[in-house]
Amino acid sequence: MNIHIQLHQAKFKGVDRIDAQLLLLFCLGKSQSDRAWLIAHDDAVVDSAIAQQFTALCQQRLNGVPLAYLVGEKPFFGINLHVDSRVLVPRPDTETLVDWALSIQATRTVLDLGTGSGAIALAIKHTQPEWKVTAIDYSADALDVARGNASRLGLDIDFVQSAWFDALKTEHDHARFDLTKFDLIISNPPYIADDDPHMAALKHEPKQALTSGDEGLDDIRRIIQDAPAFLNPDGWLLLEHGYDQAAKVRALLKSQGFSQVRSKLDLAGIERCSGGQWLMQTLRTENS
Ligand SMILES: C[S@@+](CC[C@H](N)C(=O)[O-])C[C@H]1O[C@@H](n2cnc3c(N)ncnc32)[C@H](O)[C@@H]1O
Repeated sequence: MNIHIQLHQAKFKGVDRIDAQLLLLFCLGKSQSDRAWLIAHDDAVVDSAIAQQFTALCQQRLNGVPLAYLVGEKPFFGINLHVDSRVLVPRPDTETLVDWALSIQATRTVLDLGTGSGAIALAIKHTQPEWKVTAIDYSADALDVARGNASRLGLDIDFVQSAWFDALKTEHDHARFDLTKFDLIISNPPYIADDDPHMAALKHEPKQALTSGDEGLDDIRRIIQDAPAFLNPDGWLLLEHGYDQAAKVRALLKSQGFSQVRSKLDLAGIERCSGGQWLMQTLRTENS
């Protein structure tokens, strides 16, 4: 059977056209950016072993496995990341958070909390090579994926296995990683409520990357509470959160003593991330 028929059969079974094209390119060993090649060669015969692999992947896609896991890669902020079921698939919404981070002046040191595939840390380092970037995750599996991505992209990041700031609180790690305070702390933490009905559609991604207590705010609360101790004066904390959590996150930031608290809209016009600045003034007030 030729390419045209393979794609037609996949469509008939219910596979999205672009997904089918990307899966077939993967099976053919071609780049994910070669869709034009498929269209130009739609009468080329597909070898039976490749056709079998394609059919199996289409079935997994129909079962809800993310396309990025099946093809093993996901573009994010101009870089290509390896991803598999050990990490969350980076979302385009998170690029809003990266844009915001890159717009903050006078940044030299960045901490990415809950780095997963390394998406945020690597996008920042790729764009601002002179910034010193540290990335934390408590999942050893996620850190393996992130380290692999950093090495493939030739980007130098300090990776630390830790439950949020815990490892940075020990003298040992302060000395080892020279981590004291940061100009910018950024995080896309888990923020979905434990019983959120959307979780059914996300069953293939790691649950610990997604859910965070009854309201989905447990991790955000903890990060906001602990971040001031790890921010340089005038440093910023930027957080991604759920579509309906912006007002609550702004309130948490304000009650912790952050200034300049604001939210940013994602591509769909939804308040998708919120942040605030830990002013020198705030520190003085806190310490007095
Ligand atoms: C929503 S995912 C974000 C992944 C990546 N930053 C991105 O934007 O695609 C959250 C990440 O936080 C990590 N995580 C969850 N709880 C954590 C904790 N207590 N300490 C450190 N990392 C944690 C998960 O392993 C997961 O990689």
